[in-house]
This record gives sequence, structure tokens and C-alpha cells, in this order.
Amino acid sequence: MADAIHHNHLLLPVINRMGIQLGFGDQNIESICMEKEIDLDFFLVIINAFLDHDIHNTMKLQTVSAEPVVDYLKATHQYYIERMIPEVENRINALIQHSVIDQKQFLLVKNFFEEYKSELYIHVKLEEESIYPYVVDIFNAHSSRNFDKELIERIKSYPIDSYAEEHSDIESKLYDLKNILIKYLPESKDSFLKNQVLNALFKLENDLNDHSRIENMVLVPMVSEMEVELLNIKQ
Ligand SMILES: [Fe+2]
Ligand SMILES: [Fe+2]
Repeated sequence: MADAIHHNHLLLPVINRMGIQLGFGDQNIESICMEKEIDLDFFLVIINAFLDHDIHNTMKLQTVSAEPVVDYLKATHQYYIERMIPEVENRINALIQHSVIDQKQFLLVKNFFEEYKSELYIHVKLEEESIYPYVVDIFNAHSSRNFDKELIERIKSYPIDSYAEEHSDIESKLYDLKNILIKYLPESKDSFLKNQVLNALFKLENDLNDHSRIENMVLVPMVSEMEVELLNIKQ
């Protein structure tokens, strides 16, 4: 496990969210997962999605259960809201306090980020209140073979694929914000604080990309397969 972190330290928050903390000594991935009661297939799906490996060649998604994936995604949302967003905000505030650029340009960055934040919150709310509970319902119905007409109606009227189609891109606005900082804020002698804001934005963007990849490449295909099977059982 230590080798994996030396190889890519961005895995740190990913393993933390799965319940693994530092201090695991020389243990390998398999033994840590066993000790922490983490399903190894689940662990590998999340790590491979993070590293952007083609998970469909290596993983059988049906072997992973939906609940740990949903819990992982919720923990990620929480991490954005409690850690990463405040970190970006603090750095923007530090930049504003210590820079000499005029007020108008400060407000541009601040307002842009405020808008971004509310979009992100709406996105998170929709997923946690509607999409994830549906995913868990589908998974439970699929494993127990016990489900009602209502669920079948929901599959027919709003299958997971329609969420995938509408799944809004919450990263592109961050790209625009980075460009404001990179291209349009006036030059300053001390670029440290500006770089600090950019570093935090790159980190957030990278993590969000990974999060969306897990939603699109793990959650959606997993649920979609189960929906088809449930509809077939009903017929
Ligand atoms: Fe999400
Ligand atoms: Fe999402």
C-alpha cells in the first residue's frame, strides 16, 4: 500500500474515504482491506477508476455492491464541502488581502467561485436526495428479487441512463476560473498566493474528475445492467 502512495500521492484522500488511515506499516492492499472489512473488488474498482485505468477490461462490476460505492461518493461530496471548497475560499481571501489588484478584479474571482459553489451544492443535493437512494433501491431489488410496481415504473420513466445524459459537467466552470487567474489577473511580483489558489483549484478539479468518472463508469453501468434484469424478471 505504501508503494501505491509513493507512486501517486493523490490517492491519499481516496483511501481515507474508504476508511484507510496512514500508519498501516508494511501491510499490502489485500491485508489492509481484510483488516478494515473493505471489499477488495470495490477497493480495486475505485482505485482503478481514480487512476483512469479502463475498468471494464479488468473488473466485473456486478461483483461490487452498490452501497459502498454510494457511501464512497457521499464521503467525497462531504470532503468537497467541508475541506476543499473552504480551502479554495481561504486562498482566494488571502490573495485578496495581500494583493494590489483593484477591487473589481477581486470580485470577479470571488463571485465566480460563489456561483460555482452554488452549482456544486445543487448537483450534490440532487444526487444525494434522488439518484443515490434510487441506486440503492435498484441494488436491493436486484439482490432480493423483491420489488414493487412503483420501482418498475421508475425504471421505465427515469432510468439511470437519463441521469447519465443530464449529468452536468461540474468541472468546466473550474477551468474558466483557472483561466481568469492564469490569463487575466494583472501581473504581480509575488505570484505565491495566486499559485496557491491555482494549486487548490487544480486539486479540486482533479478530484472532481475522478468522482464523476466513478459516477459515470461504475455507478451508471452497474445500475443499468440491473435495471435491464429487473425489467426482464417482471415480464
Ligand atoms: Fe457526485
Ligand atoms: Fe455528479
